[in-house]
Amino acid sequence: MKPIKIISKPSAKDQLILIVNAEKFKASKSLDKAHNEAVTEAIKNKKQELVFNNAGKLTMVVLYSDLKGWELSESLRKSGAKATDLMNKYSKESVCIESESKHEALAFAEGMALASYEFLKYKSNPKPASLKHIYLCVSKLTEEEVQHLNIVVESTLIARDLVNEPHSFLNSLQISEEFKKIGKSAGFKVEVWNEAKITAQKMGGILAVNKASKTPPTFNIMEYKPKNAVNKHPYVLVGKGVVYDTGGLSLKPTPMSMDHMKCDMAGAAVVAGVLNAVAKLELPLYVVGLVPATDNWIGENSYAPGDVITMYNGTTVEILNTDAEGRLVLADALHFAKKLKPALVCDFATLTGAAVRAIGPYATAVMGKADDSIKQEVFESSYSVFERLVEFPLWQEYADELKSSIADMTNLGKGEGGQISAAKFLEHFTDYPWMHFDIAGPAFNHAPDAYKPKGGTGVGVRLMIDFLVKQSKKK
Ligand code: BES
Ligand code: ZN
Ligand code: ZN
Repeated sequence: MKPIKIISKPSAKDQLILIVNAEKFKASKSLDKAHNEAVTEAIKNKKQELVFNNAGKLTMVVLYSDLKGWELSESLRKSGAKATDLMNKYSKESVCIESESKHEALAFAEGMALASYEFLKYKSNPKPASLKHIYLCVSKLTEEEVQHLNIVVESTLIARDLVNEPHSFLNSLQISEEFKKIGKSAGFKVEVWNEAKITAQKMGGILAVNKASKTPPTFNIMEYKPKNAVNKHPYVLVGKGVVYDTGGLSLKPTPMSMDHMKCDMAGAAVVAGVLNAVAKLELPLYVVGLVPATDNWIGENSYAPGDVITMYNGTTVEILNTDAEGRLVLADALHFAKKLKPALVCDFATLTGAAVRAIGPYATAVMGKADDSIKQEVFESSYSVFERLVEFPLWQEYADELKSSIADMTNLGKGEGGQISAAKFLEHFTDYPWMHFDIAGPAFNHAPDAYKPKGGTGVGVRLMIDFLVKQSKKK
């Protein structure tokens, strides 16, 4: 992570980025006459950016005009990603962003910082990108605002790192170690239940999925409870922590769908990233994170289609597909959440291929039964950070698909609308305000997309931070 810093003026070795409102542009003190004229000309021609290369010194001028609000912020994040690529292409180390408006500068810097992410841990000969320093030279910008942005970026990158870690490193025990490290550095508590405790508690969903695994499951409880919390009842975040999903006996085909199944703990990564932010921002908010962690392996001890298992809450489930494992581990965590008397539970999970088929990688499928006012706030945050949500209905018909002739329910709905029957399964284990985020589409990029590189994207982290920051300001 390369923190963004405020400086009072750029030094000679910094490249320059000017963010300019095209409608208000007269002349910039940072440009000579010819370049100012070139900018005026570019504005006339409705160009959005131009780059001057003065004997190796780069100046990028970013022009914006008719966009406002979240559209402007997103367009600037994307321009920021282009700037990062440009600086790396020209092997530049430091860049200074100048802007009249701090909001625009912050969005641009966010795009630059997020686009600077690299996962080089497994390269024996790593060649990191050149850009090391992002500076902001913007009047009225406070250290606190920049620190806030740095924490948001850092938390997103924590989630990306966790997703990018392969299962050969990040198994169900190792993910607990990572949570403990993050908790120690950020300042939140981490309690890890081991297999004996999970067995004693009869968390039957987690135990069934874990049956063929060579690694025991863990149930991870993260807690941030400051004395000045504005809420008595916690906000609870639940994350699917399937550290690898082979599909089990209902085996997934490879290469189409198993290759990237290390990403099946992206929901868990969201929880860890958000707790990192909540603690480091010292939000006056009581927040709990829950992660059931296991792989979904295949072997002689596998749970099998046709099995009936008993969940943590006593519900019996007829297993009709061992690849629908996420709902089983999540359901036990959702039942656990009842004990906490939560104000709201949000779960994040790479839960269904159906969500991907419905909306692709561009948005998260959301379903739930929180109050409309809460839903609206979540949607507002979704636009602020440009992590789009599409809501699907929780109609009874989708629950009817889960009826079993021999148990209380099955774990398999019809293929169509499968993201909804999965959510209906989860709903059965909740009795509190709840929202479910199926991030199977946007959690993992198969190709780079602006400020989200190939691999883990960290989707969900910026959304939840924005939402929880707003909740922490409520009295
Ligand atoms: N982990 C997968 C879902 C997934 C798909 C995540 C694509 C990321 C990208 C999940 O456990 C799964 O296999 N779901 C099945 C459920 C089905 C058997 C009801 C699916 O969606 O195919
Ligand atoms: Zn699966
Ligand atoms: Zn899965």
